[in-house]
Amino acid sequence: MERKKILFVCLGNICRSPLAEAIFKHKVKQKNLEHLFDIDSCGTGNYHIGDIPDTRTFAIAKKHGVDIDHIVRQLCSQDLDSYDYILAMDKNNHQNILRLSDSDVHKEKVFLMREFDDLGKGEEVPDPYWGNEREFQEVFDILDRSIDRFLEHVSNEE
Ligand code: 4NP
Repeated sequence: MERKKILFVCLGNICRSPLAEAIFKHKVKQKNLEHLFDIDSCGTGNYHIGDIPDTRTFAIAKKHGVDIDHIVRQLCSQDLDSYDYILAMDKNNHQNILRLSDSDVHKEKVFLMREFDDLGKGEEVPDPYWGNEREFQEVFDILDRSIDRFLEHVSNEE
């Protein structure tokens, strides 16, 4: 399989998308598939550029044995050229990604993360920012399921 570039996108890049990036990297490492993927995350917003993810994101990842190593960055139009799969956490993110380009080639790369969730196809990964551990656990469970299916999808494509 050709090396694939995967980008997870949310609003702030401190809760959902860095967790998705970390879970994807964790699963790829467990399956010895690291040579097949470049993996990153970013935010559509500019609120937290240069920060590290939220402490609650680190906490829920650690609870599940997942490491996080990320510095917040903002989505830019070049990402639509560079990446093969761009996974939006919610419909707002999805719209804001598509706003960066009119090209059909770019549009075909953009997915809602939960298109790959059998327990909620096409729904959104809820923003846990104003929540507590329960909301972060819910996000973790959604991402864990969606990423299993997404990883199967990208691995079987060729
Ligand atoms: P995220 O969560 O998009 O999952 O990283 C949020 C983080 C920060 C804000 C909103 C959502 N904020 O408004 O600063």
